[in-house]
Amino acid sequence: MELMPVNLSSRGFVTLLDFSRDEIRALLDMSSRLKERRREGRAGGLLAGKNILLLFEKTSSRTRCSFELGAAEEGAHVTYIGPGVSQFGKKESAEDSARLFGRFYDAIGYRGFGTSDTVRDIANYAKLPVWNGLTDDDHPTQILADLLTIEEHARKPLKDVKVVFCGDTRNNMAYAWIYGCAKMGMRFVAYGPRELAPDPAVLERAFAKAEPGADISFSDDDVCLADADVIYTDIWASMGEEDKIAERAKLLAPYKVTRELLAKTGNDNVLFMHCLPAFHDFETAVAAEYREMGVDIREVDDEVFNGRHSIVFDEAENRLHTIKAVMVATLAAEKRL
Ligand code: CP
Ligand code: NVA
Repeated sequence: MELMPVNLSSRGFVTLLDFSRDEIRALLDMSSRLKERRREGRAGGLLAGKNILLLFEKTSSRTRCSFELGAAEEGAHVTYIGPGVSQFGKKESAEDSARLFGRFYDAIGYRGFGTSDTVRDIANYAKLPVWNGLTDDDHPTQILADLLTIEEHARKPLKDVKVVFCGDTRNNMAYAWIYGCAKMGMRFVAYGPRELAPDPAVLERAFAKAEPGADISFSDDDVCLADADVIYTDIWASMGEEDKIAERAKLLAPYKVTRELLAKTGNDNVLFMHCLPAFHDFETAVAAEYREMGVDIREVDDEVFNGRHSIVFDEAENRLHTIKAVMVATLAAEKRL
């Protein structure tokens, strides 16, 4: 079987706005095939001989493991550079480091504090495809996994799915969703306080590239929850915003995902999703530390996180299959499954 009906060879993966609906469709279909192939014990060889650098300036579990394991299963070699252990950006400019990496590797997976422009800069200096593993303004590989998971669970096509993102609607996940829904022609509501409404420039960028059927809005009124197919949330203070945790907890408490919030959708089969990691109990050092100070930082109740609507671990598993699809489609498009 031909691997991809579209050619993404040598392209990076910076933001979903760079891709057409057909290209995203092809990546999702390829992810499903790679998932099936792995389940049948047939993974291997698609990235043989490739050298991949993972340059991560922020911590990670899912994204790093997905790149590393996905690459290893398909025969690539990976070098991982974690936060604070290289010269990158400290004793050596991003440009000089990227020019070096360009001599050694075939592609780079980058996670950092900049924006999508940082990812493009690294790609330009290194002259390599660069995959965005999360920046302050986007998280496109997460959305691929989320779309695949919704398709596996929802009883309707993506174009008919309504996603409501609750909480900090100005963060990288909210923006990644705005871009993903724009390109897939989906319905999306960012539900949170006006102080954290999406930057109008982000909405403009999404509208400029939106496919027919896309319906994207912001609301601070819980009537927007009606008929939602997916309730999505993320932590209230992202990496790099640790000094804002207490103030966000106060501002975002009304948007916490609870059984009552799910009921307002009127959809008994509503799906609960979260990119993870999540604060849903006090079993983490951070949540416990804030509880000592009288601050509840949980963005979702434990009963929802572990309840029948939650598909968060199916979603997390799909990070592996979708990231593998991105690597194979951009580095080894000529291969056949
Ligand atoms: N969802 C996600 O990107 O998780 P990690 O931060 O663990 O990679
Ligand atoms: N908004 C979160 C996403 C983590 C996957 C962060 O940037 O920390």
